[in-house]
Amino acid sequence: MTDTTSLYKKFEKDFKIGAAINHRTMYSAEKLIDQHFNSLTAENEMKFENLHPAKDEYVFNTSDEMVKFARKHNKAMRGHTLIWHNQTSDWIFQKNGKLVDSITLQNRMKDHIDTVVGRYKGKIYSWDVVNEVISDEKDTFYRNSKWYEIMGESFIEKAFDYAHKADSEAKLLYNDYNESDPIKRDKIYQLVNQLKEKHVPIHGVGMQAHWNIYDPTLDNIRAAIEKYASLGLEIQITEMDVSMFAHDDKRTDLTAPTEKMVEFQHERYLKFFEIFKEYSQHIGAVTFWGVADDYTWLDNFPVRGRKNWPFLFDHNQEPKDVLHKIVK
Ligand code: G3I
Repeated sequence: MTDTTSLYKKFEKDFKIGAAINHRTMYSAEKLIDQHFNSLTAENEMKFENLHPAKDEYVFNTSDEMVKFARKHNKAMRGHTLIWHNQTSDWIFQKNGKLVDSITLQNRMKDHIDTVVGRYKGKIYSWDVVNEVISDEKDTFYRNSKWYEIMGESFIEKAFDYAHKADSEAKLLYNDYNESDPIKRDKIYQLVNQLKEKHVPIHGVGMQAHWNIYDPTLDNIRAAIEKYASLGLEIQITEMDVSMFAHDDKRTDLTAPTEKMVEFQHERYLKFFEIFKEYSQHIGAVTFWGVADDYTWLDNFPVRGRKNWPFLFDHNQEPKDVLHKIVK
């Protein structure tokens, strides 16, 4: 009998169900993507260093292919990410071996955003405009980065302004991880609130949701959703995975998850979806940072030589028991 279950159909009235894909998994998991997801994000292919490796060189082959793939399968597409401290080519910050001045960087940023957002105008419904600028350190507000060093905090609002000018219909998000940690959560709230007060065109908060089978607590997740929702903006869960390992677990000897891990992950996923459903009027999309356990960025991270199993589909791309419970 054909399996007609579908994660995205189950939640069609609530929020989109997304997956991050890359140039390999979009084909190796094509059937699964088609059946269960209605929103796609490029895992790396739309990042600065890939699209804009040199000053006058844009490379769009792979990202265009992904946008076409999404259209062919009738899937919505998210854009990830315009301004980040990571995976951004060094040339943008430099001229003749020295750091550029603020105006030069601002103009280069504008060119990048105009070109990339403009190219996919009407094809990408939501952009992670600014990614991970809040510090994880308790007493520091902003993360140190070349963007911040050269432009001060103004780079954040400029990025949103330029993105909005390039596609006034796209939903523009601030996106971050450790988003459910109370201290970081309050800083993210403060940043977004300031932007709103300045009438910066920001439409949502991306909660990355790189979680594990123990952390964060359900209470902290709820509190974070409520806090971001109180800004009156949309929330998107943008990069969800549920690692089988606690932060301090450094084991490398497992070739399959233990029964306890499977049980904990199962329970956590059920609770997460209960919470998402409860707050569905605030949540526009729930995106996983991958498709199935045969590939995840968590393999080898943060512990080299370690496999992980963070998704609802196993390493054979078969649904886990919990998937059936979720779609029931
Ligand atoms: O493409 C090169 C390849 O040419 C080279 O031979 C190989 C050797 O290391 O590296 C390849 O690049 C890797 C790239 O992924 C593509 O596979 C990089 O080393 C590796 O660092 C990079 O990791 C990505 C990571 O972002 C970088 O920070 C992960 O795939 C990607 O899943 C991850 O995604 C981020 C989000 O964008 C933002 N939020 C956190 C999330 C997880 O870290």
